[in-house]
Amino acid sequence: MKMVDFEPAQDVSRVHRSIFSDQQIFDLEMKYLFEGGWVFLALDSQLPNPHDFMVTRIGRQEILLMRDRGGEIGAFYNTCPHRGAQICSLRQGNSPLHVCPYHSWSFDSDGRNRSIKAKSNGAYSAAFLEQGHDLHPIARFESYRGFLFGSLSADVSSLDSYLGDVRTLLDLAIDQSDGGLEVLPGTVTYTYRANWKLQLENSADGYHVTSTHPTYMKIAQDRATEDADETGVGGVWDRANTLTEESEDSARGGSFGFANGHVLAWGSVPMVPSHPLFERRFELEAQFGRAKAEWMFYFRNLTLFPNAQVADNLASILRIIRPIAPDLTEMVAYCIAPKGESAAARRRRLRQYEDFFNPSGLATPDDLVAYEGCQAGHAIDGCAGWLQGYERGVAARMDGPSESARDLGIVPLHSVEGNALLNDETVFQTYYQAWSERLGPELFKLSEEAR
Ligand code: FES
Ligand SMILES: [Fe+2]
Repeated sequence: MKMVDFEPAQDVSRVHRSIFSDQQIFDLEMKYLFEGGWVFLALDSQLPNPHDFMVTRIGRQEILLMRDRGGEIGAFYNTCPHRGAQICSLRQGNSPLHVCPYHSWSFDSDGRNRSIKAKSNGAYSAAFLEQGHDLHPIARFESYRGFLFGSLSADVSSLDSYLGDVRTLLDLAIDQSDGGLEVLPGTVTYTYRANWKLQLENSADGYHVTSTHPTYMKIAQDRATEDADETGVGGVWDRANTLTEESEDSARGGSFGFANGHVLAWGSVPMVPSHPLFERRFELEAQFGRAKAEWMFYFRNLTLFPNAQVADNLASILRIIRPIAPDLTEMVAYCIAPKGESAAARRRRLRQYEDFFNPSGLATPDDLVAYEGCQAGHAIDGCAGWLQGYERGVAARMDGPSESARDLGIVPLHSVEGNALLNDETVFQTYYQAWSERLGPELFKLSEEAR
């Protein structure tokens, strides 16, 4: 039995609900997705100075990122070669030296062992003294324009080929300022009691917005009439609330699915004054041309499979997904922004960010309740097990680039494009195709055993 079943020739698009709760599947995801390939780690602007460090995770492994004296960033397992203690227990900071709290072996910010306490009295063997005692670097660590990725497996393609045309979509965020992107002060970490893939899906799920976020949308509409420049109006998904099936509205939306599981959901938001980029619209157009500048204003929810999401619209968020258990996920969220934007644009961006995102916003809590409701529903096993929510848009799905993809010069594997009410769900198939390729034969074995 397959766990995901997409057979366009037979009009089949379905996912088995067990993939959201099964412990063995979760273990395979950790091994093959998170600990077996590229995952997003951080933005290099989070470590601006020599000796800056931060602790993050790849799957179940804790990773210490450090910028060394010369400015190079390295990624190391956060564990001491002596007896395995965690080297760094802080989330982030600055230190030229990391001293292990257990027996005081110490390490430079390039991971090299600086000292072994009382070494000369230690009666060590000659062989031991010749061994390396440095922190253990992860197998692969690369950057795409400041987006840092790591892999615990050396057996992966280059990062450029892993990302493919998704790099053009990252450029749309990075190129909004000559200085690139920065992470604004304040990190929010929260958990929800449901599977990590519910977050993966939700970011590209326009279909839920009018159902799940009525309060946010009502408030956004009320504020828009009061003071459109200063307050949150959430873009094409919100505009969809005011459309009808017969609407003449010309808002377009769609999705792209890329190799390796990356996904973009987008909508054609015009260059409105409430957008923080509005003040730079002419410069951006002169620098990058009309099509790219327009795309910078579009609402774009990008997922870098398997663990990062960049949503860029009237506000901009970077989310990192950290699966802890099949039914428990930790999220880390940052507000990101082009460096050097005006104080007025920054204020607008922050207010709009607060409106929608984080557990304190008006929309994220709705989503978390929906995920937890799905998780509770998945536990009900008296029905066949297959979920139908991967079908919407199937008749509009095309192989290769749509017209809008061609405008951007990218070639997705699949595109869907249409009215803002289309709210395609076939884009999730991109996740699950990469997912089943990576989990591969072991997944097949599991499903055969379950028969
Ligand atoms: S475990 Fe680190 S010095 Fe002993
Ligand atoms: Fe939502």
